[in-house]
Amino acid sequence: MEVTNRYITTKTHIDGAPKESLFELKTEALALSVEPGSNVVIVKNLYISIDPYQINRMKSQSSSQKSISRAVGIAPGEVIDTYGVAKVVASGNPNFEKDDLVVGFITWGEYSVLKEGTILNKLDTMGFPLTYHVGILGLSGLAAYAGFFEVCKPKKGEKVFVSAASGSVGNMVGQYAKQLGCYVVGCAGTKQKVELLKEKLGFDDAFNYKEETDLQSALKRYFPDGIDIYFDNVGGEMLEAAVDNMNTFGRIAVCGVIAEYTDAGKRAAPDMLNVVYKRIRIQGYLVVDYLNVYEDFISTTSDHLRTGNMQALEDITSGVENIPSAFIGLFRGDNIGKKVVKLADE
Ligand SMILES: NC(=O)c1ccc[n+]([C@@H]2O[C@H](COP(=O)([O-])OP(=O)(O)OC[C@H]3O[C@@H](n4cnc5c(N)ncnc54)[C@H](OP(=O)(O)O)[C@@H]3O)[C@@H](O)[C@H]2O)c1
Repeated sequence: MEVTNRYITTKTHIDGAPKESLFELKTEALALSVEPGSNVVIVKNLYISIDPYQINRMKSQSSSQKSISRAVGIAPGEVIDTYGVAKVVASGNPNFEKDDLVVGFITWGEYSVLKEGTILNKLDTMGFPLTYHVGILGLSGLAAYAGFFEVCKPKKGEKVFVSAASGSVGNMVGQYAKQLGCYVVGCAGTKQKVELLKEKLGFDDAFNYKEETDLQSALKRYFPDGIDIYFDNVGGEMLEAAVDNMNTFGRIAVCGVIAEYTDAGKRAAPDMLNVVYKRIRIQGYLVVDYLNVYEDFISTTSDHLRTGNMQALEDITSGVENIPSAFIGLFRGDNIGKKVVKLADE
């Protein structure tokens, strides 16, 4: 059987803010069969993860592209790989059979042709919706869990600040911190997000950073006794303001610096005297460094979801043609929770 596969590519490198006109919807005829002796797996994509880091892969150059294989540059016109959930339609790999549900690195398209060596696993849904395995129980969730517990080494009662707190990683960090008994304040870019953090997700407080003229004094207001842990998703001015408000022996996990991804001029210049004299630990990390805590993450998070101690926050768009706008929306703050694109019915 042959189908028409529709997929998204970039037309050029993207070195500033992403725009829809820089992306292209392409079509190709795709045979849903595998040559004898080949190890290829062909899957129908169901849900894909939409992630800010991909913008760094789309640049003509970025230091990130030299770090790990998952961060290598994406050339214009190339198929774009991403984490997601799919169904096997044909397989030359003995580990997979037609109709298996799988999770791993698929593509920004309706079908993916996955060569040997692609990270792909059979999916045990554990009774959760498939979308949870794209984000909350996927790499975003692991980034939140590992960054908070392993990098920040939190203690009950500590004061925690989270930026991009209504986003995919941020909302989970805040919820883990509340489960541990920390005092948690988040910032986000709209009134609706701020209300959600306080009313639905149990944050102790939250504020709209876009309404603050002086971030340093805003943080002083929310943390009169200082911040013990800052979970940084944004970098830039917020990182500078957080450093100014950190307590002695405070810890900062730098998960991401989205404010700087599309504007290098926003690069943070934290007061390093504060870092030295308050003995602040600032640590960047990548989720792939923490695959060793994956089992703990799944068991802790699925327990919290089942008992209702943690809420799943997802933002789902449908259709391959809407992948570019879903992606661009991350940089405009359109999303609330994990951004997922649905490509086909289960
Ligand atoms: N280290 C790792 O392994 C790892 C893994 C996953 C994600 N990350 C990083 O973690 C961060 C969050 O990722 P995510 O997937 O959870 O995305 P997300 O938070 O769900 O979406 C991005 C959010 O960032 C905020 N934002 C966008 N532009 C901004 C700007 N210029 N200044 C301040 N805030 C801005 C927006 O919310 P507002 O309305 O609040 O502005 C937007 O909704 C990103 O930096 C990402 O690269 C790192």
